[in-house]
Amino acid sequence: METKKPVRRSQAWFGKNDRDGFVHRSWIKNQGYPHDLLDGRPVIGICNTWSELTPCNGHFRELAEFVKRGVYEAGGFPLEFPVMSLGETQLRPTAMLFRNLASMDVEESIRGNPIDGVVLLMGCDKTTPSLMMGAASCDLPTIGLSGGPMLNGKFRGQDIGSGTGVWKMSEMVRAGEMTPADFTAAESCMHRSKGSCMTMGTASTMASMVESLGMSLPENAAIPAADTRRNRLAQLTGRRIVEMVKEDLRMSKILTRAAFENAVRTNAAIGGSTNAVVHLLAIAGRIGVDLKLADFDRLGAEVPCLVDLQPSGRFLMEDFYYAGGLPAVLREISHLLHLDAPTANGRTLGENIADAPCWNREVIRPLDKPLLADAGIGEQGGNLAPDGAVIKPSAASPHLLKHRGRAVVFETIEHFHARIDDEALDIDENCVMVLKNCGPRGYPGMAEVGNMPLPPKVLRKGITDMVRISDARMSGTAYGTVVLHTSPEAAAGGPLALVRDGDIIELDVPARSLTIEVSDEELARRRAEWTPPARPERGWAKLYVDHVQQAHLGADLDFLVGSSGAAVPRDSH
Ligand code: FES
Repeated sequence: METKKPVRRSQAWFGKNDRDGFVHRSWIKNQGYPHDLLDGRPVIGICNTWSELTPCNGHFRELAEFVKRGVYEAGGFPLEFPVMSLGETQLRPTAMLFRNLASMDVEESIRGNPIDGVVLLMGCDKTTPSLMMGAASCDLPTIGLSGGPMLNGKFRGQDIGSGTGVWKMSEMVRAGEMTPADFTAAESCMHRSKGSCMTMGTASTMASMVESLGMSLPENAAIPAADTRRNRLAQLTGRRIVEMVKEDLRMSKILTRAAFENAVRTNAAIGGSTNAVVHLLAIAGRIGVDLKLADFDRLGAEVPCLVDLQPSGRFLMEDFYYAGGLPAVLREISHLLHLDAPTANGRTLGENIADAPCWNREVIRPLDKPLLADAGIGEQGGNLAPDGAVIKPSAASPHLLKHRGRAVVFETIEHFHARIDDEALDIDENCVMVLKNCGPRGYPGMAEVGNMPLPPKVLRKGITDMVRISDARMSGTAYGTVVLHTSPEAAAGGPLALVRDGDIIELDVPARSLTIEVSDEELARRRAEWTPPARPERGWAKLYVDHVQQAHLGADLDFLVGSSGAAVPRDSH
């Protein structure tokens, strides 16, 4: 019996026998493609964030070639397309300002083109959530492929980690413990191969989130970019997306509530970045899963941190891969995971990790010898953060997790820079540093400035951590007792806007509270005097500030939450 050939989405372009069909096919053929590639086989879009201004994704054109090999081998037709690429280290004022803009580019590029399935090439921090968000709003069969981390940084016989080493060494320069010349010499030693940051920063965290969500093949998170096994994974990913199209394995079938719960728990187990909170909330919002900030606290509460990687621990991503990578961690916490969650390779998460080996118990700790017992990202409430704030206990100093101190307030990041090195600044290690107007609306874009450098006079005493509070984010490579994402933010009139020098603030992480010891009457008086900061008047910044949601909702634009599917009823001519 003859089986009926399925009609693919791309055939609404290439399968027409009229003038429009001629237009769609003929112009594609100018690249030398033969007619039979347009015969109804799966057309696979390779969504590429390559850019020389995004150094972490600088090898993605090469990686895309391996994906294409796999697509052709499986009988598909690959077409690579660029989308806005967000380079964390170059973009001002902050790459986060453009995450939602890039997600719109991704969504419309996928929906508007003759594509049946998508491979997302992701690496540098924001390139992962922006692609996942945009693709989720279309909901085609989709698979993720990360670019992989750089090889370990090596400086004078020591391993140095992306970001983490910068924060550490720059404080050493400020404390007079390292010369500026040595600091410069470390630059070319830290980043010496292609790939993304090799600490458990935001890029590695988000690659781990993609894998734990089931959105990639196993091992996606940790294979170094320079290891040929990354190219092999790319080829296998290309093969697999063709099958996913045939199975109609759409994103919404993988990105269920169970998948997000797995990701939240995984983030605790790897000591992942606080940035995962805003990104997972935003991705969940696009695919229609009800995920809340409180879920991170609740689900992460019983999860130990097992991965001894910087910034929480000692090692780097290359060590992590050789130790077994993410599958080894998932196997260790398998009793906390939904093992029946489907994944991109067609198997369940439980099937994928059932035999995952661990080769180094120092890098990936066993359950009974964790790096930290309770590693979930804590949600702080209290009168200073009515809608919540976050802290990463694994990167904090245990003695500061319960702390009461006098506030030293910086109204803006410029105010902070102008005051922090002033020897006359009235501050000591018991104070609480408060930074305002760095949230989604305030910066705008919620910059990674929450891990404020300490004042030199405190550093000179050998003190390396103080309690810091802001509405900003912090780099996933950073560390310290830093309360972030305070919501509502100061620029939206949150209580943070009302804090003044000398107020007493109490942080109590075990009690999940962040309180300012100022009476309600006094706070009301201050609120009456408060004026909101000026808003941008045109362009993307205006659209962003007018529509961005607060951090506890994922900082997506209000009109982008949800999905429009992949249908486009009208032709272009
Ligand atoms: Fe690109 Fe860290 S700066 S991954």
